[in-house]
Amino acid sequence: MIRMCFLLSLLVSASAMADEPMMTDFGKTKDGKAVELYTLKNDTGLVAKVMTRGATLVQIHVPDKDGKSEDVILGWDDVAGYESEDNQYFGCTTGRVCNRIANGKFSLNGKDYSLAINDDPNHLHGGVERSLDKVVWKARPYTNDRGHGVRFNYTSPDGEEGYPGTVKALVSFFVPKDANRILITYKATTDAATPINLTNHAYFNLGGAGSETVLDHVLQLNADKYTPTDDTLIPTGKIVDVAGTPLDFTKQKRIGARIEKLTDTAALGYDHNFVLNPKPDDKEHNFAALLRHKESGRTLRILTKEPGIQFYSGNFLKGQKGKDGKTYAHRSAVCLETQHYPDSVNQKAFPSTVLQPGDEYKTSTLLQFGIAKGATGN
Ligand code: GAL
Repeated sequence: MIRMCFLLSLLVSASAMADEPMMTDFGKTKDGKAVELYTLKNDTGLVAKVMTRGATLVQIHVPDKDGKSEDVILGWDDVAGYESEDNQYFGCTTGRVCNRIANGKFSLNGKDYSLAINDDPNHLHGGVERSLDKVVWKARPYTNDRGHGVRFNYTSPDGEEGYPGTVKALVSFFVPKDANRILITYKATTDAATPINLTNHAYFNLGGAGSETVLDHVLQLNADKYTPTDDTLIPTGKIVDVAGTPLDFTKQKRIGARIEKLTDTAALGYDHNFVLNPKPDDKEHNFAALLRHKESGRTLRILTKEPGIQFYSGNFLKGQKGKDGKTYAHRSAVCLETQHYPDSVNQKAFPSTVLQPGDEYKTSTLLQFGIAKGATGN
């Protein structure tokens, strides 16, 4: 009997161990920093891998209608891929301020700030060398009775990439035991007023990363309005109805159905910030987007506390080679970046992105994978 109990307890602890986040080496950055990769698994078929460079989602495997798993995000098999010119923010945490800041300039408390111009004539996704996607974060894996996750911490010193204040940032990825979901939580504090707008920049193709196109995916966005831009993708400040335009995704629509009709825009396809309809008071997260791929039956629902979502249809993907030598063709993936609106720091009428000392920036987004109703293997 005692022996049985011992064996049983061994078995239980072995299965608990199998569920814990597993760490492997993912190689070194060019400047010699070791990068760690953590694997998060659950009991319902989801496998997610996240690395310390850029607090980046590297892989997300989810089953299709026949139970066949596929990695549904773009990326590379090593750090070198992520450090290459081909990396267009694949899977990373983007910041300190994601999206664009007009002319790389803003003023706060009477002081002017100048940031790198890396998307001429604007500042994009937090800068060039020390933006949050390029630095190596510290990881702390954890397990609780609901599932497990990894917390990434990074302290960005005052003045890094031109931004004021020392910012302590935390991004965590949590996978519950019993649902194919990833909860991404973002927190930050600062010692001087500074703009903050964090998102994740995963490129999804629910048919599997490396599939030819995303134009056959169906999309729904919970947004009656969007923020039109000038020719450099900076919002004009107006908030306009999507009704009657190719930006109307209030009902499920194929991404490719009207993409060529996007003529009155500087974007080379969908690359727009949508204003999410107000969150119902009784809900923690607002429904933001539903992405559906008919052939595989896979769906992705995105829920968030953020007021906006940038829908980008992979217009700049250029056929670069990624994981397993797969090709990432033009419009072969979609980014659905929950965030505050672009250039908010210069747009007084938009919800503020300025974090004050003593306050905490806290937000979260849920990636909820599933299978479309009626999409069975039979
Ligand atoms: C998106 C942005 C695009 C492009 C892309 C990276 O977030 O909206 O315009 O810059 O990132 O290639």
